Amino acid sequence: MRYLPQTIIRKKRDGFELSGDELRDFAFGVADGSVSEAQIAAFAMAVYFQDISPRERVDWTLAVRDSGTVLSWGKAGAGARPSAGTAPEFELDGPVVDKHSTGGVGDVVSLMLGPMLAACGTYVPMIAGRGLAHTGGTIDKLESIPGYVTGLSPADFQRVVRDVGISIVRQTDTIAPTDRRMYAVRDVTATVENRGLITGSIVAKKLVAGLDALVLDVKTGNGAVMQNRSDALALARMMVDVGNNAGMPTFAHVTDMSEPLAFSAGNALEVHEAISYLTDGPRHPRLEAVVEALGADLLVQCGKFSGPDARPEALSALRHSISSGSAAERFERMVDAMGGPADLLARPSNYLSAAPVVLPVYADRPGVVSGMDVRALGWSVVTLGGGRTTPGAAINPAVGLSALAQVGASVGPSSSTQPLAQVHAATQAEAETAAASVRAAFQFAEPGASVASCDVLLEVVR
Ligand code: URA
Repeated sequence: MRYLPQTIIRKKRDGFELSGDELRDFAFGVADGSVSEAQIAAFAMAVYFQDISPRERVDWTLAVRDSGTVLSWGKAGAGARPSAGTAPEFELDGPVVDKHSTGGVGDVVSLMLGPMLAACGTYVPMIAGRGLAHTGGTIDKLESIPGYVTGLSPADFQRVVRDVGISIVRQTDTIAPTDRRMYAVRDVTATVENRGLITGSIVAKKLVAGLDALVLDVKTGNGAVMQNRSDALALARMMVDVGNNAGMPTFAHVTDMSEPLAFSAGNALEVHEAISYLTDGPRHPRLEAVVEALGADLLVQCGKFSGPDARPEALSALRHSISSGSAAERFERMVDAMGGPADLLARPSNYLSAAPVVLPVYADRPGVVSGMDVRALGWSVVTLGGGRTTPGAAINPAVGLSALAQVGASVGPSSSTQPLAQVHAATQAEAETAAASVRAAFQFAEPGASVASCDVLLEVVR
């Protein structure tokens, strides 16, 4: 390194702008291990307090992208535009697309939308992350599937994308290595909530994947990293601009996270819910709204559907991918190709671990759910062992919450009423601690009150 890590950290701590060379040096030092975990934490906290400028944000994002291999794809077929330097074995006959969320609770969108997009003729090289702070992570969810290997070499990753249409992997020593270490440290040091670091994490991973189009799901509300809507909008604007300026057509949906997005929150529990969705089982209405809006707009953005009826045609293709079973088949083939069981969809309970204690949580008195502290629900899952308190710690895939009551549900104290949730825990004591937190996280209106959920789709940023 040309610049000492402590000099870079001090400069940022004291509120000065870092040069492109300094940011690149630090990012590459994170990747090659010459910057320590303590220095990563200090840097992230300095950025959290002092923030980074628009110019630093772009330099940081490009440095994180360049810390490992950047993928490229060739285009086969009519209208093909051969990409310089692309191995012919990675020629694809459709657009390369992806989605990424800023993180939520019960945010299992990627597990169904990825296979749905692949079933609609696009290719989805998804580089995802583990749980971050109180939010769940796609990689932790997939690792609850026995045998599923999330860390592939770039060539193996590209091979699965080419053959199956989708592969979901994590950051590795060669794929976005700076984000791999930064992400793990930010998770446990209260440094997630900085727009520049989020942009550098999300947009960099997507630039690595060589996309033709990207949709971002920027969450707002009490369960989001950016709780306040204007902060979420500013983050969306920032990521969309950095993505577009780097040559990757990018847009964002700002969506509400003041209710969990699914019936469950927890790794194996969310995989069960994704399988149910993909196999035409019950679908959480808010989850379905987000999956379909992101998916349909992305299929239009990447040119898969065009003309005046493009949006309804894209939506109907997505729905057909569920009713025909083709999205489920893509998911099954991906799990198989990544080392998981070939018959996961037919027998999920044979493979996904279940917690020994399942405890229903009831309200203290009759009422109607009028709101909830979603961040507290997310922390309950972490406390149960479904997330981490130190970088790289093992998690328990089986724990979490299921049957989460939605806003407007009538609940009560007796076992004949709807519970607020079911707690899945490793021990009775942990279940009871979590049950108390879950009960405290809900707010109620009087019995019989009519309470409606707020809209989940808030606005689009292009
Ligand atoms: N997802 C990411 O990959 N990075 C973040 O910083 C937040 C969500």
